[in-house]
Amino acid sequence: MHSRFTWINGEMIDTAQATVPFLTAGFHYGIAVFEGIRAYQTPRGLGVFRLREHMQRFEDSSHILGFLEMPHSVDEMIEAVCSTVRANGFGDCYIRPLLWLADGGWNLTLDSGRPHVAVTVWEESVYLGQRSPEQGLKACVSSFTRHHPAAMMTKAKVSGNYVNSVMAKTEAQRRGFDEAILLDTQGYVTECTGANLFVVRKGKLVTPPADAILEGITRDTVVTLAQDLGLPVQEATLSRDHLYVADEVFVCGTAAEVVGVSSIDGRPIGAGVTGPVTRAIHEAYLTAVRGAHPRSDDWVTIT
Ligand SMILES: Cc1ncc(COP(=O)(O)O)c(C=O)c1O
Repeated sequence: MHSRFTWINGEMIDTAQATVPFLTAGFHYGIAVFEGIRAYQTPRGLGVFRLREHMQRFEDSSHILGFLEMPHSVDEMIEAVCSTVRANGFGDCYIRPLLWLADGGWNLTLDSGRPHVAVTVWEESVYLGQRSPEQGLKACVSSFTRHHPAAMMTKAKVSGNYVNSVMAKTEAQRRGFDEAILLDTQGYVTECTGANLFVVRKGKLVTPPADAILEGITRDTVVTLAQDLGLPVQEATLSRDHLYVADEVFVCGTAAEVVGVSSIDGRPIGAGVTGPVTRAIHEAYLTAVRGAHPRSDDWVTIT
């Protein structure tokens, strides 16, 4: 379900009135940055998971894109998110802040326009459409290459970057897979269309280095939770065949949470079902987001 209320440029309005004029440069050129955040029911009330980190990345994304001034500080955006969540009165929900180029910007510069900002909320939905946590996803290696970081800014959640994700995921699903894994321009594994990737091999977790990926907040959460569980974690270059011989592969992201991969390019991964390490990380993750993990106090903002 969509929100009833949307926060836009500092005002809370009816979502039906939250429209963007056709003549908006951000819409024509993909010049916008966004976040994807989740809030969960916790014993202390509805809690937003790692809100400050998301709003810091939101500011970093617009800084990377080249906006010289943010209309609102990180603290103001945190308050904007909390008030939008409160106004809508949902339980578990997905939160979408967006900043876009408006009031000009037609000559292909940021400086001839101004950033506008909005925050809206959806009632929670299952993102990757996984059949069940045990079964895992059927993934393929995409025919599309991930952006080279000298061409597109992969550390920024820029809307235009997602053309690459949309093409890869559409192709994957038309070929009967659930999700696509993208390689970089050198042929090494990067991430999925909207989630980071981990390989489990001989009891160790390996994830691609941050060079050409979005530095996921869930990726960071998983690293911490894995270390808490005594599992070694390493950032290392992974080739396509590393995926095929992994004991387990899982993907993670705010929307996706933690999801096992059962097969890649038709080859079963490990036993072909979500493996024990993925299940342990998934369980720790759900405990953390629901406010019941020793780390939760640092990670959950009660709205
Ligand atoms: C391309 C891409 N990689 C990774 C992620 C995971 O990031 P996070 O864990 O911060 O949601 C996302 C989701 O935002 C994404 O769009």
